[in-house]
Amino acid sequence: MRLYKKEGNTVQILSYPTDNIEKGDYLLVEDANVNRKLITQVIDVQFASVPGLLEELLRDSTMEQQVYGETIDPLGVTSHINHIQDARMLLCKIRGTMLNQKPHVNSSWLPTRSKSGITKIPINILLSHAADSKELPINIGKTKDGTTLNITAHDLDGRLNIITGKKGTGKSHLSKLLVLGLVDYKATVVVLDLNGEYTGLGTSSKGGTNQYSDRVHVLTPGSNFKVSLSQMGLSVILKILVHALDLPGTSTREFKHIWKTLCQQRKISMHELGEAIKQSTCNMHVRDALFSRYYSLVNSGFFTDSEDSATSFEKLFEKTKQTGGALVINLKDISAVDRQIVLEYTLGNLVKILGQWKIKSVFLFAEEAHLYLRETYWEDIVTRMRHFGLFTNFVTNQPDTIQENIYRQADSIFLFNFTNERDLETVSKAARVDSETVKSIAQELPPHHCLLIGKAVNDFPAMVKVRALDIKTMGETRLFFENQNN
Ligand SMILES: Nc1ncnc2c1ncn2[C@@H]1O[C@H](COP(=O)(O)OP(=O)(O)OP(=O)(O)O)[C@@H](O)[C@H]1O
Ligand SMILES: [Mg+2]
Repeated sequence: MRLYKKEGNTVQILSYPTDNIEKGDYLLVEDANVNRKLITQVIDVQFASVPGLLEELLRDSTMEQQVYGETIDPLGVTSHINHIQDARMLLCKIRGTMLNQKPHVNSSWLPTRSKSGITKIPINILLSHAADSKELPINIGKTKDGTTLNITAHDLDGRLNIITGKKGTGKSHLSKLLVLGLVDYKATVVVLDLNGEYTGLGTSSKGGTNQYSDRVHVLTPGSNFKVSLSQMGLSVILKILVHALDLPGTSTREFKHIWKTLCQQRKISMHELGEAIKQSTCNMHVRDALFSRYYSLVNSGFFTDSEDSATSFEKLFEKTKQTGGALVINLKDISAVDRQIVLEYTLGNLVKILGQWKIKSVFLFAEEAHLYLRETYWEDIVTRMRHFGLFTNFVTNQPDTIQENIYRQADSIFLFNFTNERDLETVSKAARVDSETVKSIAQELPPHHCLLIGKAVNDFPAMVKVRALDIKTMGETRLFFENQNN
């Protein structure tokens, strides 16, 4: 391999098919004089365009058609010509410099063209040199050369991550792997599970229990997940009324008044609230507005007056604090309004609990969050809530539903295959990597393979085949023509 050209942060390297270089491979350009190595990653493999090559190829093809007989090559140049015709041009992005076996992002120098040697370096070796800490590994899967690729739980701690890719490529699978990886290290994880896919986390693929069974708590709103007004507090119920049920300002004021009175009388329950609204002397329209919201709350089936059957996040967190655990909020089969109510409650309550330091931090996994997260929450989650210890991982197959500023703030992106140009354009806005890398590599990722970008891999984008899990898969698309032959 030979260094040919450099433009911006792209270098072009000449190679031959025997070098066996593919997209995504890392190459070290070694300059013997200065004891530094340039770290580059192949993002595209093209044919080398040599002057006169087109003519040569055309001449070859016409000869094949018209001239019959023996080819005589007394000087033995055919093999050389073939060699040149097969020469490859590797388009590589500069990722940094290797100095004393330690990778640095600085790459303001240029190796010699005449004497530099170029070698392939496995991504694991590169990452093992780059990583500051090897504690708390989470095994993601295997790289192309068959070695295990680990990230560390620190890479999810205090971070914002995005898992994206087109339908059915394995996003939810990776997200489950990360959830269990965190639970292994005694973290508390909350999953907003839109399709009831995570409810099988505590069940093995054969249907029995697995090692996570007692640490996965599936909460289905209305059945084993009900809450009481008394443990809720004014701020959370107001969030539900204003954001989920669109209660107007005047009515909100009246509600606060009623709530205060109930508090003084120590009579906070759904029943008492209904009575208080009935007896309130306020304007008729305000009362109607309050009543309609009240009935929405009642009809959601999410509220209970019995303290015993009410779910307390505090108690659940008490348990997860010792052993780690995942709370899976099963949002399957509930209406959009009820989903909003449950979400406002869950997030409001999480922030309250975190604010009171009852637990240190919570990892939140949100699938297709645009379907239930209101606009203002996005900003809030990535900026303010991070300081409260709420670390979010968004999972989506529609990257344009996540705002651009969120991509820019994302620490790591787990990118699965995308073929659609527009989707790729959106993802490539992520500040942590150049758009060419995203577009060129993501388009060719096979299913179950992902490109890791960002802090989790110390800014050395890496392709990995995600490993399988021994859990019961749920949320698969139900098929009509399945098993019709049997
Ligand atoms: N690394 C893997 N090893 C084995 N099976 C996998 C792997 N990744 C995904 N699968 C399986 O492939 C199927 C699709 O995966 P998954 O549900 O994670 O896709 P998805 O990207 O979340 O799809 P959707 O966009 O529909 O939510 C599932 O049945 C899952 O169990
Ligand atoms: Mg999914």
